[in-house]
Parts: sequence; C-alpha cells; structure tokens
Amino acid sequence: MLEIYRLGEDVLREKTKDVKVFDSAFSLLIDAMFETLDDADGVGLAAPQIGVSERFFIVDLHRGSGSRYVFVNPEIIETSLEEVPYEEGCLSVPGVYRNIMRPEKIKVQAQNVEGKRFTIEAEGLLARVIQHENDHLNGKLFVDYLPPEDQEKIEKRMRKMEKKEKRKRK
Ligand code: NI
Repeated sequence: MLEIYRLGEDVLREKTKDVKVFDSAFSLLIDAMFETLDDADGVGLAAPQIGVSERFFIVDLHRGSGSRYVFVNPEIIETSLEEVPYEEGCLSVPGVYRNIMRPEKIKVQAQNVEGKRFTIEAEGLLARVIQHENDHLNGKLFVDYLPPEDQEKIEKRMRKMEKKEKRKRK
C-alpha cells in the first residue's frame, strides 16, 4: 500500500510535470494506486497524493475493473456553464466533507496508462471526481474553495489529528 500525503505536506501544493515515460514501472505504480484507493475506500487518487509530482490520476467509481479510469497528462478542454453542488471529500483531508460548486459536464483529453490518447465527455459523479483530481495536479485542494474561516478550522483539525497519530506511533 502507498502512503497517502495529507493537507500540510508540500507535495500537494507543487506544480506537477508531464509524464513522458509509459513503461512497466509506471503501470505497476498505477496498479498500486488502485489497490491503495480501494483500501482507503475512495473514488479518486492523484499522483501528488502519493508523493509523486507528476500529471496523472486514477478514478474508480464502483470498485471494479469496469469503472476504472486512468488519466495521464489530462486537459479539461470544455466545461458546461451550469454549475452544480456536490458534497466532496478527499483522502488527503480525511473526515472533512463539504458542498462544492463545479461545472456539471466536462470534456477531457488525456492519455491512458500506455500513452494512448483519448477524449471523454463526463457528467455526474465522474465529472465531479475528474475535476477534483485534476485540481490536485495544479496544487489545488477542494478546501481551497471554502471560506477562509472554514479553511483555518480544517487546518487546525488536521494538525490535531497529526499530533494524535504521532503519539500513537511512539
Ligand atoms: Ni482529493
């Protein structure tokens, strides 16, 4: 299982680089990410969250091979004007869920795990997760959309959680 980095870690805020090599090591890393995502009971995981500052993320909406997506070097090329609210969470900000407004439909260009290019139109939960994960590649977290007071509260809560866990490990 891979370690999931949390709010407060620099790697979550760094600018990511394009993936250029699509080799077996990359494919194995993607496999490990799916296992980690499954274990953490999440629907999406971006490279910075496992400490890798590169442009890729995975999505697994229903825990199964038929609902798995890999997006490498993605670009959101179209977004609908209409925005909708949805309660989001993030494995890097455990225990925090907030309603966030985002475009309802999007069109994305990306490469798959082998480097093959594809275009996908998404709406609903898939569109939501893609936009959330794509933000991670730009050093952005969903809490950034919240009012400053709420962000401070969340950061405090995360620091407290971190301290508690450190004590447990000793
Ligand atoms: Ni996230």
